[in-house]
Amino acid sequence: MNKGLFITFEGADGCGKTTQLMKLAKYLTEKNFEVVITREPGAKGLGEKLREILLNYDGEVSSQAEAFLFLADRAQHMDVIVKPTVNAGKIVLCDRHTDSSVAYQGYGRGLDIERINMLNDIATGGRKPDLTFVFDVDVETSMARVGKEKDRMESAGMEFFDRVRNGYLKIAEKEPCRVKVIDATRSIDDIHKNVVAEITAII
Ligand code: TYD
Repeated sequence: MNKGLFITFEGADGCGKTTQLMKLAKYLTEKNFEVVITREPGAKGLGEKLREILLNYDGEVSSQAEAFLFLADRAQHMDVIVKPTVNAGKIVLCDRHTDSSVAYQGYGRGLDIERINMLNDIATGGRKPDLTFVFDVDVETSMARVGKEKDRMESAGMEFFDRVRNGYLKIAEKEPCRVKVIDATRSIDDIHKNVVAEITAII
């Protein structure tokens, strides 16, 4: 294989996407693909510093500032990690990306969606994921999975997460070719089979 792939994993906190990312990485590695796993916010270096602020800063953070911090992390991540890795022919599996900004800062916090789309485009240089999974689960289930110890974002409340979930579903409606909604209320193995079926269609 000489053409790399950029695949993103999305969904509300507690949707189980990280478990599925790890399972897919193992599956593809066993099939001899070169796989790199990464995440937003906070892949490496500067990103780790931004992640620390985004998830743990306990003073006031305006929605606009929050959006720009995620975007700064994304610009760095795309330029330094994702693009060079995909261009080297590898498969990049990324835990959260542009759709998180649309779902959380746009639908969740109420910032203008078109403006977020435009800023995402600047941060990524227009490079979209080749495939995106949205792991969809009801808010009660996802919040129960997150548990009692919540970071700054996870503390935003049930109504916020309801808007985030619906935001993801709207994104998928608008871009059905790129974005696949996966019913994440099923068993880990059933979800994995679904993910593998979607990947097999593009590799
Ligand atoms: P993380 O601990 O990585 O959560 P998860 O395991 O659910 O991915 O925290 C990332 C948090 O940041 C999560 O609550 C979603 C949020 N987020 C945004 O609000 N906007 C963004 O653009 C990104 C990338 C993440």
